[in-house]
Amino acid sequence: MSPIAVGTVGTATLQRRLRKVGHMTKLILDLDTGVDDTLAISYALGSPEVELIGITGTYGNVLLEQGVRNDLAITDLLGHPEIRVYPGLPHASTKDSFSVQSISAFIHGGNGIGDVSIPDSNRKPEVESAVDFIIDSVKTYGKDLVYVPTGPMTNIAAALRKAPEIKDEIGKIVLMGGALTVCGNVSPWSEANISQDPDAANELFRSGAPVTMIGLDVTLQTLLTYRQTARWRDLGTKAGAFLADMTDFYIKAYETTAPKLGGCGLHDPLAVGVAIDPTLVTTLPINMQVDVEGPTRGRTIGDNDRLNDPAKTMQVAVGVDVERFLKEFMTRITGLAKAAH
Ligand code: RIB
Ligand code: CA
Repeated sequence: MSPIAVGTVGTATLQRRLRKVGHMTKLILDLDTGVDDTLAISYALGSPEVELIGITGTYGNVLLEQGVRNDLAITDLLGHPEIRVYPGLPHASTKDSFSVQSISAFIHGGNGIGDVSIPDSNRKPEVESAVDFIIDSVKTYGKDLVYVPTGPMTNIAAALRKAPEIKDEIGKIVLMGGALTVCGNVSPWSEANISQDPDAANELFRSGAPVTMIGLDVTLQTLLTYRQTARWRDLGTKAGAFLADMTDFYIKAYETTAPKLGGCGLHDPLAVGVAIDPTLVTTLPINMQVDVEGPTRGRTIGDNDRLNDPAKTMQVAVGVDVERFLKEFMTRITGLAKAAH
């Protein structure tokens, strides 16, 4: 898959051309659909290089059911009712239930999308589970499949338990989560997605699957401000107004939680950007683990046991081309919001 300078021809035209020459990478997004997850959907739908073959639902910013509801409603609003949504597991396998933390509701709103109201979809979620859909997709598309989890790693860990061979069959996994060179955002050592299910993330990290970690090291360098969301509102479309209002709620929350940043972190869309164009980041090849015992539970760090293993199965993003990513982000999402009406 080669990244394309979007903007000269429409996304749909480019998609048709790429399909003809067999260049369409298949993408699955695994989302706890809050604000930046919604921006990740938008980035994917605005990208001609990839075909979004499905969204798998997880929990985190919202409950699983709310996230799935959001996915269906958002894809309708963005003009893509063909996107299927597969419900995943509602909580970590080490727990009996999950409830949304008050900080998540503060950052993403009670409904996950900045308390902006959009119509429910008439569509229903798929009957097939997220775990089976992930496994079936790897069997169908193999190396052409890219899986992008932007919530807890619960679904992919369950898929790897059920069908361990998929670690060698999948194209790549580009996840949003973790922090290697900076502090966490739920504790000094732990990032939100990893902290929801450290055991699942550790299973993934140590599985040998080809994983790129897009953590806070880079996502807190890619920031959006009201100046850019105003461009979406100025489009005069429902999709543009929704994206602007929702993201403004998120920027406002960042003014309280991270006042020094001067914008909101584009965590989840950066993972999609890197899935499409790995040259947006510089990475460190390293075998990683997640601490699952003791006071540092949830920390993402190098795996001492595999330090001297010459084969490095993970890449951790430690640098990002901020300017180029923001340009791609705005071009792709603005184009989508304009076309969606
Ligand atoms: O730490 C940031 C991550 O936590 C993002 O994926 C955000 O959506 C939340 O899930
Ligand atoms: Ca997320």
